[in-house]
Amino acid sequence: MKILVTGGAGYIGSHICVELLQAGMEVIVLDNLYNASRKALERVKQISGRTLTFYQIDIMDKAGVRNIFDRESIDCVIHAAGLKAVGESVENPMKYYRTNLGGLLNVTEEMQRHGVKNIIFSSSATVYGDPEPDQIPLKEDFPKGTCSNPYGWTKWMQEQILTDIHMADPEWNAALLRYFNPIGAHESGLIGEDQRGIPANLLPYISQVAIGKRPYIQVFGSDYPTPDGTAVRDYIHVTDLARGHVKAIDWLYNKGGLLICNLGTGRGYSVLEIIHAFEKACGKELPYKFTSRRGGDIAAYYADCSKAARELSWTAEYGIEEMCRDSWNWQRKNPDGYQ
Ligand code: NAD
Ligand code: UFG
Repeated sequence: MKILVTGGAGYIGSHICVELLQAGMEVIVLDNLYNASRKALERVKQISGRTLTFYQIDIMDKAGVRNIFDRESIDCVIHAAGLKAVGESVENPMKYYRTNLGGLLNVTEEMQRHGVKNIIFSSSATVYGDPEPDQIPLKEDFPKGTCSNPYGWTKWMQEQILTDIHMADPEWNAALLRYFNPIGAHESGLIGEDQRGIPANLLPYISQVAIGKRPYIQVFGSDYPTPDGTAVRDYIHVTDLARGHVKAIDWLYNKGGLLICNLGTGRGYSVLEIIHAFEKACGKELPYKFTSRRGGDIAAYYADCSKAARELSWTAEYGIEEMCRDSWNWQRKNPDGYQ
């Protein structure tokens, strides 16, 4: 089976490529390397002992996307390419709507033209908006919420586009996978999250403090209604997440239809718990300071993962210790990422 992974050179995409290759599938990667490195793909080959085909193409380049479908007999698409910086999306919403919505339309139009009707989409827990406390753990059948930023709305709208495509033609099979908070790295330490600039997310920031690049962690908010006052999230090891995609391919071929599914662990950890788990992993104390809450942040949420277990026969295997161990292993072995 030949799988096109858009955004396959990125953090999550590169881990998906490893799992697909290890499951014996052929992999074609489309990526413009906007937020990724060619080295990631070399390392994917190194880990898997297999090769893949890479097209350095912008997803907005319609002729370029068409050329891939003309040349390769693609069976299924995993669509992970896109822009994902929440803060930047607030400052430049047009860029986010153009790339994330336009990119999806380019891909689905070429799929349609070539009779490819199997797609897995990298969605996000952000589509739940700001849930009520009694909605947690979050289940897929809760109505989608009001997103607090344009990035979130692009995920919300991309889910709607794919749902409508399936409704119009039920031969289309679509798995909309709602990722919770992917962290960690491949256990080899060869691929991981190559953070450029000041990290916006918690784990890359903690890693940079641990490696000595930044003086202390800022903990955004200590007065949330949570056991220790810091915000709670459902962190999931990126390898577990990637394996969920292999299971989703099975689902597309063996069951088919429209699947909306959470990928998380079902367990929430606070910011302080994550800092302490990382301290254990790196063997040193990490300085932190409490600052005010970050605008738009939600106090606590985590996934109900029963649907993934039922439909995909998938549950996350790794816990917080392995997540922090592998994040630290990647950071330690690649202090400057792929550079
Ligand atoms: P990433 O930035 O590492 O990966 C995205 C990839 O898309 C990159 O390799 C980038 O170069 C590529 N890309 C960006 N614009 C492109 C364009 N115009 N044409 C072709 N390629 C382009 O991010 P990631 O964390 O690996 O995220 C992958 C997907 O998962 C994204 O769609 C993201 O929104 C989604 N997601 C991520 C998280 C998270 O916390 N990391 C959570 C939920 C959902
Ligand atoms: N946090 C800090 N200090 C930091 C960074 C983050 O205290 O330096 C806190 C945040 O306030 C939040 C928690 O750590 O409470 C996690 O923050 P992240 O930025 O790592 O992750 P988010 O939960 O805010 O969002 C992430 C992705 C989104 C995605 C969402 C899906 O960034 O794109 O998960 O659940 F939509």
